[in-house]
Amino acid sequence: MKKRILIFIAGAIFALICFITINITMKPFSTNDFCGSKCHFMNTAYQTWELSTHGSNNIGYTVDCIDCHLPPKDKYFTHLIVKGYKGAKDIYKFYTLDDYDVGEMSKFVTEHFTNATCLNCHDNLLAKPANSAVQKAHRPVLIDPDSPESKCITCHENISHQRTSKLFEE
Ligand code: HEC
Ligand code: HEC
Ligand code: HEC
Repeated sequence: MKKRILIFIAGAIFALICFITINITMKPFSTNDFCGSKCHFMNTAYQTWELSTHGSNNIGYTVDCIDCHLPPKDKYFTHLIVKGYKGAKDIYKFYTLDDYDVGEMSKFVTEHFTNATCLNCHDNLLAKPANSAVQKAHRPVLIDPDSPESKCITCHENISHQRTSKLFEE
């Protein structure tokens, strides 16, 4: 227990140093490459993201890890604080977990994921003609945003991480 607390404190201090450093060198710690490759637990997340619409699409706009996994950058302080906290948690887990279970983490993230994150970018869901599939699917979602059926990622399951690719069938 003592060891865990020490590791957590070390993580928190590290995160604090990052927090200060970030203000000077925010960019390197925010890249997809940093998030996805510096920690082997995240390799699956990185590769599945690369295969998804958000990781690569025809319009050439990449949606970064931090666009979905942190509060929006324009909420500067919330963004930084959550970043520090999650960073500390990740480091803590990196040193204390023997095994990383992708399925478990995916379930955990799914449960805590809110529509607001998606709506930050997709705020024009009713722009298509009224009889279109897009309108029909989303009208009920926007009328009753809190119901479980309205959760974006229930219908758009592989939109963030393309997990049904052959690469990940075991
Ligand atoms: C468009 C939004 C979006 C983007 C961009 C995104 N994620 Fe995710 N991420 C999610 C959602 C939603 C889940 C839960 C559902 C799932 O697992 O597919 C998730 C799950 C995860 C998980 C837990 C499961 C696992 O694979 O270990 C990790 C870790 C993760 N993401 C890291 C990343 C990293 C690293 C990047 C960038 C390389 C990234 N995410 C980009 C939305 C996103
Ligand atoms: C930072 C902005 C951003 C965020 C956050 C974001 N997206 Fe996207 N999304 C995009 C862009 C850019 C595209 C590609 C645009 C295109 O192909 O027309 C896209 C494409 C899509 C598509 C169309 C995919 C296709 O293959 O036709 C869906 C569906 C979608 N996003 C759902 C979501 C959901 C659900 C979330 C939340 C988990 C989310 N997006 C989060 C920017 C974002
Ligand atoms: C009840 C299921 C359902 C839910 C919940 C849902 N969608 Fe969709 N979405 C669809 C269908 C069906 C389409 C049209 C077919 C397709 O592109 O998959 C679609 C298409 C999209 C597209 C592509 C739009 C285009 O013009 O091609 C985006 C972006 C999108 N959804 C985002 C979201 C976001 C953000 C949320 C959460 C606020 C969400 N969806 C919730 C079913 C749903």
